[in-house]
Amino acid sequence: MRGQRPLSPQSNQQQSEKMKLAQTAIKKRTSKPNFFTTYRTHVIISIIIGIIIIVVLSFTKQIKEYIIINQSEINSHNSQGYPYTLGPNNFFHNVTLMQAKTLFKNDFTQQINVEKCKVPINFEIPTYFNFKESYPNCSHTIFNQGNCSSSYSIAVSSAFSDRVCKLNQTQQLSAQNLLSCDGKLNQGCTGGHITRSAEYIIKHGLTTNECHPFRGDDNFQECTKALEKCQRFKANSFCQLQNKDDIKRDIINRGPVVAIMQVYKDFLVYRDGVYQVLEGTPRFHGGHAIKIIGWGEQNGYQYWIIENTWGTSWGTEGLAKLAMDGFIDLSLQALSIIY
Ligand SMILES: *[C@@H]1O[C@H](CO)[C@@H](O)[C@H](O)[C@H]1NC(C)=O
Ligand SMILES: *[C@@H]1O[C@H](CO)[C@@H](O)[C@H](O)[C@H]1NC(C)=O
Ligand SMILES: *[C@@H]1O[C@H](CO)[C@@H](O)[C@H](O)[C@H]1NC(C)=O
Ligand SMILES: *[C@@H]1O[C@H](CO)[C@@H](O)[C@H](O)[C@H]1NC(C)=O
Ligand SMILES: *[C@@H]1O[C@H](CO)[C@@H](O)[C@H](O)[C@H]1NC(C)=O
Repeated sequence: MRGQRPLSPQSNQQQSEKMKLAQTAIKKRTSKPNFFTTYRTHVIISIIIGIIIIVVLSFTKQIKEYIIINQSEINSHNSQGYPYTLGPNNFFHNVTLMQAKTLFKNDFTQQINVEKCKVPINFEIPTYFNFKESYPNCSHTIFNQGNCSSSYSIAVSSAFSDRVCKLNQTQQLSAQNLLSCDGKLNQGCTGGHITRSAEYIIKHGLTTNECHPFRGDDNFQECTKALEKCQRFKANSFCQLQNKDDIKRDIINRGPVVAIMQVYKDFLVYRDGVYQVLEGTPRFHGGHAIKIIGWGEQNGYQYWIIENTWGTSWGTEGLAKLAMDGFIDLSLQALSIIY
């Protein structure tokens, strides 16, 4: 009896374990043909991936074919009381978002370290300043970059040109110099860096626009001996500005600065007012170079006055006001080219 006692529960345990094993075996057998139960997670994940692929493909197609200037979208924006308005322009007439993408291959630098500017704190900053108004004799043409990603070369040469003019009333300097002659540093119409363009101006200088007129393409053959006869204006150095006050003081001390901005879809049809980025507006990859010529304040928004390279039918006669605070922080990527 003593010896049997412990046997009885053990055998019970063994039996129930056997039954469990049998039950799970049955379960396994019965569930095996049910594909969905076994692979439920796989099926759900596949369906989700499929949906994502379809959405991405149809979105890509939409972007490719999307014509930038859409009057009903412009009207809808303008009726909502935002601090800036939109409007059509000749520059993006009949251009798709896909085509516009090729314009934004500009960036600040390839180098890791760019010297930081030391701007003297030598005066009270005024609440409004516009280089074009303060130096009307240095107010040069607004460029049209065409379908060439050349904003880096135009913004740099035109800011430097303004700075030389401020000191010495010169005519406009050549933006074509950079496009045609700095092929070792940048890539002509397929993009470039603003610091490398500044390096070119330190080494080789710029001729006047009269000597080498702007055409907007990147014909490297053009950089011939004929240009050697022309007077050249060389830069001394360049540095990266640190903050908004430094940018403002530098513009008053020396003249316009160059900056890299990120471009959002509705900026292509900007017309007037203080531009800012509304939540959810799609952004282009890459950067766009612009010239900052001043600043001001309107309806409580502080703004930069920038000159763009999309002709005079874009924006306000080719200029725009960009909100200083918000998604576009120009102060991080602003370059001072010192004459
Ligand atoms: C303009 O935009 C509206 C709203 O996004 C769209 O329904 C319409 O098809 C667009 N028109 C053109 C010509 O692309
Ligand atoms: C707009 O572009 C399409 C396709 O590239 C072309 O067929 C059409 O003629 C263009 N329209 C205008 C007014 O330029
Ligand atoms: C601007 O140019 C005009 C004529 O070209 C000249 O009379 C005037 O003195 C210049 N202004 C300045 C500030 O140099
Ligand atoms: C610009 O357009 C012209 C003519 O349509 C074309 O020949 C050229 O390759 C284009 N350039 C770029 C950089 O897209
Ligand atoms: C001003 O420009 C003239 C001719 O354009 C040149 O001869 C002169 O050296 C320049 N002066 C300065 C200070 O750069």
